Amino acid sequence: MSKISRRSFFEISTIGGVALTMPLKASALSPLKEKEKLDKYISTTYSFSHDELVKIVNKYGAPTYVYDWNKIKSNFQEFEKAFKSNYKNVKIHYAYKANTNLNIVKYLSELGANAECISEGEMKIALMCDQSPSDIILTSSSKTKSELEFAVEKGVTINIDSISDLNNLIKVIDEKGKKVNITFRINPDVETKSTHKHISTGHKFTKFGLMYHNGDIYKAVKIALEHPKINFLGLHSHIGSQILEIDPFIKNVQIVSEVSLEIKKRFKYEVKVINLGGGLGIPYRDKENGLSPELLAKEIIKKVNFQFRTFKKKPAIWLEPGRYFVAQSGILLSRVNSVKKTEIKNFINVNTGFNHLARPIMYDAYHRVRVLGKNGKIEKYQVAGNICETGDVLTQDRLLPTPEVGDTIAILDAGAYGFSMASEYNSFYLPAEIAYRNRSTFIIRERENFKDIIRNQKLVSSLSN
Ligand code: LLP
Repeated sequence: MSKISRRSFFEISTIGGVALTMPLKASALSPLKEKEKLDKYISTTYSFSHDELVKIVNKYGAPTYVYDWNKIKSNFQEFEKAFKSNYKNVKIHYAYKANTNLNIVKYLSELGANAECISEGEMKIALMCDQSPSDIILTSSSKTKSELEFAVEKGVTINIDSISDLNNLIKVIDEKGKKVNITFRINPDVETKSTHKHISTGHKFTKFGLMYHNGDIYKAVKIALEHPKINFLGLHSHIGSQILEIDPFIKNVQIVSEVSLEIKKRFKYEVKVINLGGGLGIPYRDKENGLSPELLAKEIIKKVNFQFRTFKKKPAIWLEPGRYFVAQSGILLSRVNSVKKTEIKNFINVNTGFNHLARPIMYDAYHRVRVLGKNGKIEKYQVAGNICETGDVLTQDRLLPTPEVGDTIAILDAGAYGFSMASEYNSFYLPAEIAYRNRSTFIIRERENFKDIIRNQKLVSSLSN
């Protein structure tokens, strides 16, 4: 006990302005064990070592995102094998929104991933990274005319979200006279209790998908089947993100299959595709048991085989994972600007914030954090960002070795929805991105500079007089 500060065994809080000192919960009583667990996580998850991370930050500076190429590959291949070795017709579309660095997208394309896109920008990235248009899906609940025109022109598969969206598409098809492949996104009204409410997309109060209870989906299918230029492939349903329980995924298959059977009954048409979306979570915390792709695939395929047993040909299964492929590969490295201790809390102030990693403030997300190269005295700290907002806290109270100014703080599992959600808020420059592969490092995005952040602005001299 002598090595650990007495303060780390107490939590200080205030009630009505009076500071109270309370014993910490039992789970927090073994800080050294926590650190060992963290180091084990780093050594079993990444192909770079703790020391190599220190070298990377010394070479490239901070804030910097570093991605482990091996981890992307192994997570992709694990997922692909789980589905493809158990079902004949499977297509995997990487959800670009998780991370659109061109190199990551290209690498996943080379490994065999197709594309799930949300915007013209993402479709253009997919085409640039050698995706053939028919392997790209455009899925947005709110598409502009120009996005629809671009998708129709190129031959992208369009996932339609509402009857209004379908009518917009028909106008574009009629103008262009081109054929188009479509799927319909349904709202399966499936709850995903374990995930954050902002990323639970499958229940009936969300903005997503055609309802089946009220018959909208069947109205849409009728219109599509009767249109000479529309090739209706099947149904799509994405229930949310960071899901670690199997039940909602299976419930989703149940609803998708029931709607497919009803379509068969009403229109004598067997859907060719069921797109079950993404959503597989990763264990951000030690206590979270990850849901393995093996179990997910086994249970989904069992359910599909059973539900579609009366079909002449079983539908293809399409999937759209984003997070699972890239989250664990990425680490956000930042430098300690200052360390502040008060009688209420200790703060490690770093040179990044929610502008570069929005997940904690947006979803109360938890990320493992390690002070690189430090093993000494352990105390309770908040890792606080450099944005001028109280909510800019990257990690709540954690037991960490006491850092010095200039030390590196590594925020783990930040490869998905990290850089892709980053902004230039407070006019900080966007971080550099580095790929790590076979003991070598490559810059895959230069750090921004002042010129970058003012690039599209025009200083109009006459505005002030
Ligand atoms: N398909 C669709 C239609 C989606 O909307 C999404 C994610 C995915 C696939 C991929 O889901 P994933 O496998 O990555 O869970 N920014 C949030 C996550 C937002 C997810 C949005 N849609 C976060 O940082 O947790």
